Amino acid sequence: MLRLALSSIASLFLVPFSHDYYAPSPPGYIPGLHSHCSLIPPIAKPEFDARQAALATALYNLNASAYITEPSANSQYYANFSSINWKLSERPLLLIIRPRSISDSQIEPDVALLTPKFETLRASGLPVVPFKDSQTRYIQWAEEANPYASALAGLGISSDSEETLYVDNKIRKFIVDGLQQAGPKLRIASAPLEITSLRERKSPAELEILKCANEATVLAIRDVHLQLSAGLRESEVSIMLSSALGKAGLSNAGCLTLFGANAALPHGSGTDRVLGRDDFALFDCGGSLHGYVSDVTRTVALPDARLPNGHLHIWYAVKGAQAAALGAAKAGVLTRKPDEAARAFLQALGLKDYFTHRLGHALFARGSNDVMLTGHTFSNEPGVYIENKVGVRIEDCFYVDDAGNPRYLTERVGGPSETPWAP
Ligand SMILES: *[C@@H]1O[C@H](CO)[C@@H](O)[C@H](O)[C@H]1NC(C)=O
Ligand SMILES: *[C@@H]1O[C@H](CO)[C@@H](O)[C@H](O)[C@H]1NC(C)=O
Repeated sequence: MLRLALSSIASLFLVPFSHDYYAPSPPGYIPGLHSHCSLIPPIAKPEFDARQAALATALYNLNASAYITEPSANSQYYANFSSINWKLSERPLLLIIRPRSISDSQIEPDVALLTPKFETLRASGLPVVPFKDSQTRYIQWAEEANPYASALAGLGISSDSEETLYVDNKIRKFIVDGLQQAGPKLRIASAPLEITSLRERKSPAELEILKCANEATVLAIRDVHLQLSAGLRESEVSIMLSSALGKAGLSNAGCLTLFGANAALPHGSGTDRVLGRDDFALFDCGGSLHGYVSDVTRTVALPDARLPNGHLHIWYAVKGAQAAALGAAKAGVLTRKPDEAARAFLQALGLKDYFTHRLGHALFARGSNDVMLTGHTFSNEPGVYIENKVGVRIEDCFYVDDAGNPRYLTERVGGPSETPWAP
């Protein structure tokens, strides 16, 4: 079946071969890894103020008393710190945002941090953004005290209150249990859609950061691709990639690095394979810029590759699926349409059963009847995985622009990979 499928692919695709590694640069764009993103500012204070105010208003409208999160993507979004700044431990450190009614029409956030007492000094060094010109409030819990009772007391919530507290849906269970024991009648629930949706549509400043992070990731992959040669190990190339991503200005950066048949296992194999001329190399990379994480996958070949029959056709099938997915994206359509388009494309080539995951995982895609809106971002990452043979995945994230059209975050550096030699 595969053989049949491959010959039909061969007839569908003219396979271009190119040694043009870089797509033409748009005017004003300076290629090069170093300081690629140095002119991109982090999210400014007024945008944090607006986020906190929007959260407070949503909480107030839901008749909820607080939103609580551990260091996470949500604490990054609302208060500028995450688990990169504060590693999670068995001692809870919580960001707590409460709505405060200033007048009937004006709700303001009250930003507090629950911190272990002996770590207060370290916690006060977190880059927490307070609301406007207010001060972040630190609620300390002493080592011998109950952190959750301390939290409620510090917030002025009585232990027999029936108020509603919303928690980040990734908060650890022992924290929810602890809060519930400290206030048995409290209603503690995962933040509902009215709150989780606040983060979904990206602002211009967020899009600039996301674009640059993804561009830098592509540039780093291209840089390493030029240094690849047969005989390198996955672990060695992985180090080269981390270093290139770091040079490009990304932090916490790295790539899943898989050669040959190892790439048929979407999340890796655990062996440390040597790169051969008959292998594709798959790099699934990400790094963080101002708290926003890139996600780019490239499947590349060596300049002097001797790929087995059919591998190139699989590569172009995946590229075609990626283009089909983008073509199905538009403001107003269901968010699952791109996945369906990629799947239909691979099905026509007899490869559907080898596309074993769904598109759009990351970046706040939710259930399947959601509608695509301007400012939404999605990952477009089709793949074909044939166990013990070959794995190909290509991934570029896109956003929906103001006109409702999908545009790759990597567009300014040429967008998706052209060929396995032009990542
Ligand atoms: C957010 O934190 C970063 C350091 O992680 C800092 O450079 C930046 O100034 C902070 N943003 C605000 C608005 O305070
Ligand atoms: C709002 O929550 C309080 C508990 O904090 C409750 O007493 C009150 O009835 C709720 N109001 C509405 C309109 O649900």
